[in-house]
Amino acid sequence: MSALDQLIGRSDSLRVVKSLLLQAAPTDISILIIGESGTGKELVARSIHENSARRSGPLLFVNCGAIPQGIFESEVFGHERGSFTGADRKRTGYFEQSQGGTLVLDEIGEMPLESQAKLLRILESRELMRVGSSKTLPLDVRVVAATNVDLANAVARGEFRHDLYFRLKAVTLVIPPLRERSDDIPLLAVQFASEFADRNRFAAPRISEDALTLLAKQYWPGNVRELKNTVETVLTLNRRAQVLTAEHFHPHLSTSRAFLPVLASREQHSQIGQGCCWQRCLKCAGKFAKCEVFLRRR
Ligand SMILES: Nc1ncnc2c1ncn2[C@@H]1O[C@H](COP(=O)(O)OP(=O)(O)OP(=O)(O)O)[C@@H](O)[C@H]1O
Ligand SMILES: [Mg+2]
Repeated sequence: MSALDQLIGRSDSLRVVKSLLLQAAPTDISILIIGESGTGKELVARSIHENSARRSGPLLFVNCGAIPQGIFESEVFGHERGSFTGADRKRTGYFEQSQGGTLVLDEIGEMPLESQAKLLRILESRELMRVGSSKTLPLDVRVVAATNVDLANAVARGEFRHDLYFRLKAVTLVIPPLRERSDDIPLLAVQFASEFADRNRFAAPRISEDALTLLAKQYWPGNVRELKNTVETVLTLNRRAQVLTAEHFHPHLSTSRAFLPVLASREQHSQIGQGCCWQRCLKCAGKFAKCEVFLRRR
């Protein structure tokens, strides 16, 4: 099934995303995908690739937040042999590995500031220079960037280059959080139940109206990913049930309705302490370091 077919939802906001996606995908224009964790950014990025002329080329996902700063450039742009101590072999970076295809730069806000200038140069010149090389290589890669933090705030704080920001967001796809498209929740829940039952070879139970209403009223800080996991948990624990009611779902719903996840500025973070104040924060899992998301009482 194509990624676009997997992207379920009939809400107006998701329709807008799909329609923009289909207009932008066939061209080479840079696309920035913005959405909270679990809203479907990866599915959207896949759909862009599949609906472009590059669909038979490679599709690479790189999480900019997961690459240590010291090796970022050599991982992403590649390096020549001997370009630094320990570089005993040439390395082909993610850009070259995506030649003829699409490179998704996930968590783009985490990209080191000093590498941002290099990325901008690559996007503008369509040429790549490996670390330690003076030769340029022609590059045919479409870049899609994704973020779950407000990049405009990062630009205002001087942590993200404004010229790169404008270059990346030629087309911006904003995926709304699930709580803002609750119409989609029953549809998603029924689909996830049916897929899970099929995969595990048992008959999908019906989900009662009261259960669907309950799910549609939930807050879902983890968005579609959390809904999917909840449906799968409830199905697993009630495999013999023919109908799943609100009673089946109640014990598995998160108690976080009293909290609001927000995209926090660094200043807001410092006002509340050293970082994320909620142990169950989906981004940092309570580890605080560099967390951009914190949960605030409603
Ligand atoms: N509209 C949708 N229809 C069906 N499944 C969806 C939809 N949106 C998301 N999903 C499913 O939810 C899960 C999370 O989606 P995805 O990984 O694309 O989110 P994400 O925004 O990239 O999250 P993160 O920021 O944490 O990386 C996946 O299993 C995905 O298939
Ligand atoms: Mg993702």
